[in-house]
Amino acid sequence: MLKRATFPAGFVWGAATSSYQVEGAWREDGKGESIWDRFAHTPGRIADGSTGDVACDQYHRYPEDIALLGELGLAAYRFSIAWPRIVPDASGTVNRAGLDHYERLVDALLTAGITPYPTLYHWDLPQWIQDAGGWADRAVIGRFADYADTMVRALGDRITTWTVFNEPEVFVTHGHESGVHAPGFRDHDLTLRVSHVANLAHAEGVRAVRAAAPGATIGSAFNMDIAYPASDDPRDLAAAERHHARVNAWFLDPLVHGRYPVAYLDQDAALARMDIRPGDLESLATAFDFIALNMYSRAIIADDPADTRSGLRRIQGPGRTNSFGWEIWPAALHRLVRRVDHDYGHPAIYITENGCADATGPGPDGRVHDASRVRYFEDHLGQLARAIDDGCDVRGYFAWSLLDNFEWAAGYEQRFGITWVDFEAGGRRIVKDSGRRLGDIAAGGPLDYDDALD
Ligand code: FCB
Repeated sequence: MLKRATFPAGFVWGAATSSYQVEGAWREDGKGESIWDRFAHTPGRIADGSTGDVACDQYHRYPEDIALLGELGLAAYRFSIAWPRIVPDASGTVNRAGLDHYERLVDALLTAGITPYPTLYHWDLPQWIQDAGGWADRAVIGRFADYADTMVRALGDRITTWTVFNEPEVFVTHGHESGVHAPGFRDHDLTLRVSHVANLAHAEGVRAVRAAAPGATIGSAFNMDIAYPASDDPRDLAAAERHHARVNAWFLDPLVHGRYPVAYLDQDAALARMDIRPGDLESLATAFDFIALNMYSRAIIADDPADTRSGLRRIQGPGRTNSFGWEIWPAALHRLVRRVDHDYGHPAIYITENGCADATGPGPDGRVHDASRVRYFEDHLGQLARAIDDGCDVRGYFAWSLLDNFEWAAGYEQRFGITWVDFEAGGRRIVKDSGRRLGDIAAGGPLDYDDALD
């Protein structure tokens, strides 16, 4: 049945970006090299051979981007802080010019009436930390906590909500197992060890923010690949649960419950390779004030004994796809929010990323009619409203992304922006139809959803 979507009073409407993807200015004002600078500068790593050296040049053009948010009627901006701007080298000295940049950005947002939602780590690890062992070496735990403390002391009087990590599963797995992201390793055992150190650093980071800003609201953003079993066969159901455990719960359960979920066929051997020391599990359990979810697609999972680790295989679904080839399945957002609500005790939830890769550019009228992305937002926001009607405590929604930007290993070949960026012609911005429709929905414009989708 079709129902009219409504969003609660005070619901936060925003758009998101991350430092390496939009800032550029890769070695200005004392910034150190990041693992993404190093990775993108290595031939063969990025599909179109591009880098984030300039990207959207938001480091210089942030006033224009803040004006865009205002024009769209979006009252919140999620961005990330580049750790190598703050702690550029192994001396550990804080770079005042780096702090100044984020102070200016935050002040300009506040002046424009836009609430800043900073993320402390969105994948651009300082290269000097990588050189010392990166996320595999426990020294990173204290370094991350120190950096978090520095940021909260600098901005804590103006920031009410902190997001600590962005998508630990992605930077751990793609950085160390598939190797398609920085630092580009392909080593399963390393990935297991790194996952544990990253979880320890995550928990320590949450504690550091809490200690420096006791009144702040603290959470983290998790990429969630909600698993649909390929059939009702109990083997497929079990495989879908293992997928959920490896991708989603592996990075959330330790921080909420102090334990790892069962993700591998040889779970005991996997845990044995992780260097879990006495006291670790106790120190993992921390307290989030909210859980943030990044969602784009879904996973259809079948049992597959040929995969000796997790015993599963991914199947391409029947839905239409975005330009990346990811299946578009809006009901998966409803299912995801319901599951997180159920499994983690009815937490406050934000959607901190959701969006659609689509290459549509300016037409003859100079405007960008990205109909596929308009429909993506309408359908997903409808399913989010449905989860809210079901009683889930969803507090806000951030579209990915405010701008077309450097899409990691895909370079500039994939565009997620609600604003077109003309990378060839000096970075000119053009708001797309999807940005306008989002602003319209945020302002209470009519939207219906189907409550029978699965
Ligand atoms: C997410 C990332 C974000 C962006 C989108 C498309 O995994 O957090 O930076 O690249 O995917």
